[in-house]
Amino acid sequence: MTDDLSEAAVLPELTTHWLGRSYHYVPEIGSTNDRLKAWVDTGTDDPPAGTVLLTDYQSKGRGRLDRRWEAPPRSSLLFSTLFRPDWPAQQGGWLTMLAGLAIAEAIEQVTGTVAGLKWPNDVMVQVDGVWHKAGGLLLDARLDGDRLAYAIVGAGINVNIPEAVLPDAVTPATSLMVATGNPVSRRPLLLACLSRLEQGYEAADRGESPQPAWNDRLMTLGEHVTVSTNQDSVALTGIAEATDEWGGLLVRTGSGKLHSVAAGDVTLRRL
Ligand code: BTN
Repeated sequence: MTDDLSEAAVLPELTTHWLGRSYHYVPEIGSTNDRLKAWVDTGTDDPPAGTVLLTDYQSKGRGRLDRRWEAPPRSSLLFSTLFRPDWPAQQGGWLTMLAGLAIAEAIEQVTGTVAGLKWPNDVMVQVDGVWHKAGGLLLDARLDGDRLAYAIVGAGINVNIPEAVLPDAVTPATSLMVATGNPVSRRPLLLACLSRLEQGYEAADRGESPQPAWNDRLMTLGEHVTVSTNQDSVALTGIAEATDEWGGLLVRTGSGKLHSVAAGDVTLRRL
């Protein structure tokens, strides 16, 4: 199993130009997103764009909407990536899109299993014909006025979590091992993720929107959904018709009105 994710194992095999060239492995940590954020905000040295921080175990892994992100030691890919895009704030939504696309493509490349995306940032694979969540993304961004100062994209991919210890979640979870029936080597998957993420970011930085490719992979579109905010009990029920250019979901309710729901503050339930 090519499972060693240390600097010594990963750096010689990296095919990227800048993403992950500043690569840091720690066997155990609270949260890679939190540590990278603290490093950028308060560190004496300034981590360069493309810095990747990866761990084999998180004691305080964070999911979206203040949830925990749990994974047994060495069972997953848990990493955070630093970007410093010279983009307007709302374009930060593209990072979620291109990271989701990169991970879905890498899963397909390495495992041969079809991968999809569930709005706003879940990576999905099928188990017995039913879509399950195999990964998620967490975006932490800092603004400078109306522009992005930096953005940290955290990725958690359930690679070899045995079925018995899969986390209980709103969206049924699985791992790539459970979905494919075989253990999956983590290092080739990491290398494929970073390579595709670098290509996707460079295209976005040239102004090419990831939205069309993202829409193509979004299983949410066309579905009858209930969208509820985290803060209160207001729920919106309707058909998820489309996304806007920054990743918001456009939901048409029974009255015929089209509502725009910003990514990041909702949970989605299929009716
Ligand atoms: C979600 O689906 O709720 C997002 C999960 C994101 C988890 C990853 S694991 C690496 C990084 N560090 C964290 O604390 N969270 C993200």
